[in-house]
Amino acid sequence: MNILVLGSGGREHALAWAISQNPKCDRLICAPGNAGMAEIADCADLDITSGSALIGFCEAAAVDFVVIGPEAPLAAGVADRLIEAGIACFGPTAAAARLEASKVFTKEICAAVGAPTAAYAHFTELASARAYVKAQGAPIVIKADGLAAGKGVIVAETEAHAFAALDDMFAGAFGSAGAEVVIEEFMTGEEASFFVLVDCEQVLPIGTAQDHKRVGAGDTGPNTGGMGAYSPAPVLTDAVAQQALDQIIRPTMAEMVRRGTPYRGVLYAGLMIKDGAPRLVEYNVRFGDPECQVLMMRLGAQALDLMFACAEGRLDEIAVNWAEDHALTVVMAAQGYPGRYSKGSEIRALAVCPEDSHHMVFHAGTRNDQGRVLADGGRVLNVTARAETLTGAAERAYAMVAKIDWPEGFCRPDIGWRALRDTT
Ligand code: AMP
Ligand code: GLY
Repeated sequence: MNILVLGSGGREHALAWAISQNPKCDRLICAPGNAGMAEIADCADLDITSGSALIGFCEAAAVDFVVIGPEAPLAAGVADRLIEAGIACFGPTAAAARLEASKVFTKEICAAVGAPTAAYAHFTELASARAYVKAQGAPIVIKADGLAAGKGVIVAETEAHAFAALDDMFAGAFGSAGAEVVIEEFMTGEEASFFVLVDCEQVLPIGTAQDHKRVGAGDTGPNTGGMGAYSPAPVLTDAVAQQALDQIIRPTMAEMVRRGTPYRGVLYAGLMIKDGAPRLVEYNVRFGDPECQVLMMRLGAQALDLMFACAEGRLDEIAVNWAEDHALTVVMAAQGYPGRYSKGSEIRALAVCPEDSHHMVFHAGTRNDQGRVLADGGRVLNVTARAETLTGAAERAYAMVAKIDWPEGFCRPDIGWRALRDTT
């Protein structure tokens, strides 16, 4: 099988790595890819949001299967175009991708099926939004409706902070994404991510994970795209997972079918868990980044079979071959991230890190310059390890971090702290 992976981050390197382990993969191409992907695949410089460019490429290169990593091509309808052209693809249609692209849409679906989530209201003008905040009080959560690169959510501790966020959003801080604003009840509890493959009403769980959104040790400092993750997430017990499936995920998927926009692909449910009960924080229509890195480390080559069965509507014929293991990834970012940072510093000694089924350094933002690996983004490397215990995975990952010679980078020293605290 010839396989094309779309994207250029650590998530896509991990997808490409897992796919490359599978003997069914004859040729692997990544578009646009990065320096890490270039070591295991051919890289093609394509506009990954253009359906026609992708169809032309797939026909010329005899691509059998396309795996879509990020949300932008999904929201742009790339899966729709590929499916129309008869090319197998892993990722939902644009209509189904609204579960991530529009928070108002998701809230309406949750209300329609009675899925537990934060109480909310939505507004298109400032005065009534302010009046609602005044009536509800703080803390309260303000969200821009559309895709805002993960920056459209403000957890406001005070009323003044909430008013300032509303002023910014209605003044166009998030462009058209802020023209409609959702205001939500602030939920407390522990967050975890639940990943399932979906084919219309068939739902197959493929793992749980916990992310670390804050930049600093002890969950301090500003929010980031994610500074590290581990899988499984102990807070997401089998009982919690069953409730999430029965009360949230399956009813949502049934409603999508009822509306004529069935979902197919990976669904990532962000859950807030309190007293053993989950509530939905948000859906994403893609793998999390860096959660995907730990899931791929645990699933390995079977990830290709699972994704292909999902794309072909054969999820009922396949099962996950679970191992009793733990994976953990540490994000190495450029100093300054998530604020201003510079690109172009050299990363040395990567070659001394082992690369096998228990150790991988996934590249998130790198480029190759005449054999040298240069930092080319905010989040740059995902140092990932697997072991029988979470402690073992953390030790392996941090041992690799210690070997990497990149003074311009930094990482959090405490990835996994919640679960590690609870296991000792
Ligand atoms: P989202 O993009 O919707 O996942 O929001 C980003 C982050 O904001 C989430 O991962 C939570 O940590 C936090 N958050 C979002 N909505 C709520 C809420 N209603 N209550 C508490 N925290 C929230
Ligand atoms: N790590 C969070 C996300 O991918 O949205």
